[in-house]
Amino acid sequence: SGTLTVSELADKLNKDSSEIIKNLLFLGVMATKNQDLDDDAIELICSEYDVEVEKEIILEDTDFDKYIEEDDPKDLKERPAVVTIMGHVDHGKTTLLDAIRQSKVTAGEAGGITQHIGAYQIEVNDKKITFLDTPGHEAFTSMRSRGAEVTDLAILVVAADDGVMPQTVEALNHAKAAEVPIIVAVNKMDKDTANPDRVMQELTEYEIIPEDWGGDTIFVPISALTNQGIDELLEMILLVAEMQELKANPNTHAFGTVIEAELDRGRGAVATLLVQNGTLHVGDSIVVGNTFGRVRAMLNDVGKRVKEAGPSTPVEITGLNEVPQAGDQFLVFADEKKARQIGEARHQQAILETRSEHTKVSLDDLFEHI
Ligand code: GTP
Ligand code: MG
Repeated sequence: SGTLTVSELADKLNKDSSEIIKNLLFLGVMATKNQDLDDDAIELICSEYDVEVEKEIILEDTDFDKYIEEDDPKDLKERPAVVTIMGHVDHGKTTLLDAIRQSKVTAGEAGGITQHIGAYQIEVNDKKITFLDTPGHEAFTSMRSRGAEVTDLAILVVAADDGVMPQTVEALNHAKAAEVPIIVAVNKMDKDTANPDRVMQELTEYEIIPEDWGGDTIFVPISALTNQGIDELLEMILLVAEMQELKANPNTHAFGTVIEAELDRGRGAVATLLVQNGTLHVGDSIVVGNTFGRVRAMLNDVGKRVKEAGPSTPVEITGLNEVPQAGDQFLVFADEKKARQIGEARHQQAILETRSEHTKVSLDDLFEHI
């Protein structure tokens, strides 16, 4: 990390080195002109001159992009699709998520299924599909706004008895903006008042046109209550996913996004992570958002302990110093010291960013105008 010498600091503050040395002495620090100063000393001197130090200039580079190596195309392997279910209030998102999960629960897993980790994975025709169990699209959008596109495919649930409603439009606009393909699940087909033609008609206004009508959007009539059409829906998901040729490199440091996180009384900070690239292991040194730690234990979506998690796999981990936020990104570092450095720097930066919301001055700005 780049510290400053006495004379460099003097330059920045537009003072004489001798004056800085005198002040340091006054503060109980003996220093010569070319001596490196630690952060505390720099801060002390700056506060003498009423200059607030933005620590980031003397900190590690905190951007994950700096540490992610581009994957060699030959290392890329097929990975499961990550699916989000969206739609208007009460149109059946939660019921559908439950129906899909129930339809694929094996007897052995039944006990663990009450475990809720914010995402789950099922297997259809030997292929896995990951569902983000975050009904509504807040999670979808907050993750997107942080630049991490976690969703590969959106299921737009529209109740056949209610038709297109404001949040249906909102949802489809989000998916379109993210360039995420949409499959329309026309739900509640078991109802007498179901009118799927009306749903199709209404969606054409938003350029979502069924294949039957010459468009390219797949519509699947379903009932999340009676399980009608669920298998067809899953097959369509696999079909669309296959066309996307989703790939990741399982043999690299894990990178991904926080699905949800909370403080557990017994276990401390608990976070559900979606691995997007690489493989996450127990014992990995990890930076998550503005915190860091070592993966102590990992549970899969049915509450079983696992030692590793590959691309598109959701896992719940413990071992972080603090609770991160949904939508935060994470990255594993080969070396624990590096993870600590980057984690601490990001933490520091977050504090400064919050603080500078009211006192918006950076050290560079300040020094330029002294
Ligand atoms: P919010 O989370 O509040 O946005 O609602 P949601 O989209 O998750 O809807 P939810 O799954 O909670 O379903 C709302 C109501 O519709 C519940 O009473 C469900 O039982 C009912 N429902 C869901 N799917 C079907 C269906 O296929 N047929 C019928 N008849 N009712 C359904
Ligand atoms: Mg719901």
